[in-house]
Amino acid sequence: LAATTKPPLEIRLCAPRGFCAGVDRAIQIVELALERFGAPVYVRHEIVHNRYVVDSLRAKGAIFVEELDEIPETDQPVIFSAHGVARVVPEAAAARNFFQLDATCPLVTKVHREAEILHRKRDREIVLIGHAGHPEVIGTMGQLPPGAVTLIETEADARAFTPRDPDRLAWITQTTLSVDDTAAIVRILTERFPTIMAPHKDDICYATTNRQEAVKRVGAEVDAMIVVGAPNSSNSQRLREVAERVGCPVSVLVQRAADIDWARFEGIARLGITAGASAPEVLVEEVIDSFAERFDVRVEVVTTAAEDITFALPRQLREAAE
Ligand code: F3S
Repeated sequence: LAATTKPPLEIRLCAPRGFCAGVDRAIQIVELALERFGAPVYVRHEIVHNRYVVDSLRAKGAIFVEELDEIPETDQPVIFSAHGVARVVPEAAAARNFFQLDATCPLVTKVHREAEILHRKRDREIVLIGHAGHPEVIGTMGQLPPGAVTLIETEADARAFTPRDPDRLAWITQTTLSVDDTAAIVRILTERFPTIMAPHKDDICYATTNRQEAVKRVGAEVDAMIVVGAPNSSNSQRLREVAERVGCPVSVLVQRAADIDWARFEGIARLGITAGASAPEVLVEEVIDSFAERFDVRVEVVTTAAEDITFALPRQLREAAE
């Protein structure tokens, strides 16, 4: 096909998009563990929610399991995913003398410590705003004894919630929620329970907030939005919703270019693209390339925030990185 026969398409590429500092660190932990200790290394749960990332680490010798009891007796490293784990997990790992490496994002760990302080030192009943079944929610709830944390998913849950003592409450959140939905839930909780304690610093992380901001701006200006990310990635799902809510007529989540349903993009003139915090840039490039095969594309980067956050590696791997 000659270039001139292709219809023009303006691509607005959201920035920031894709990998956050927590995902970057988690992947580095697996790679450095493989370099330093050799294969196999065991990883409990997908290190980050992205099939491409998981498959490429598997090819290098990582073995992914859902639970520790799938791991044989070993001296090789056992790595916990970026989403964090309940207390029982490192306890069980210690009981089996596993060499543990924790890839929990430091911003998730911050929420864990916060829950603990609010509960033990401030004697508060904790309300966790989040999505049932997500590994981060399981990990955060599992920092405290059963019954200490109540999960709230929706505004209706916030209205229906009955605390033990309405004056001894605190709320915390999952790190990858919709900023707007969470604010609405918090509004209901503070109206109902005026003395409820809030986190010192927002639990929704900088990466989630910045990626949603960029999508709000771009989503309002384009005919369609593509979010590169996995269906089990919470922050990617939220990005797709944000675009839809600002009125973008087509907003879809794709894992990679092969997933694109081309019929949905017929006749568009402007396309927004972003990627969830666990989606590698190579998959964004793949999506852009496949649009370039069908359209005469012009790419414009729309930057709504600058990011320069990085997190230190676990002590056991620091020398390996040097
Ligand atoms: Fe951490 Fe936020 Fe990424 S909590 S893993 S920086 S999406």
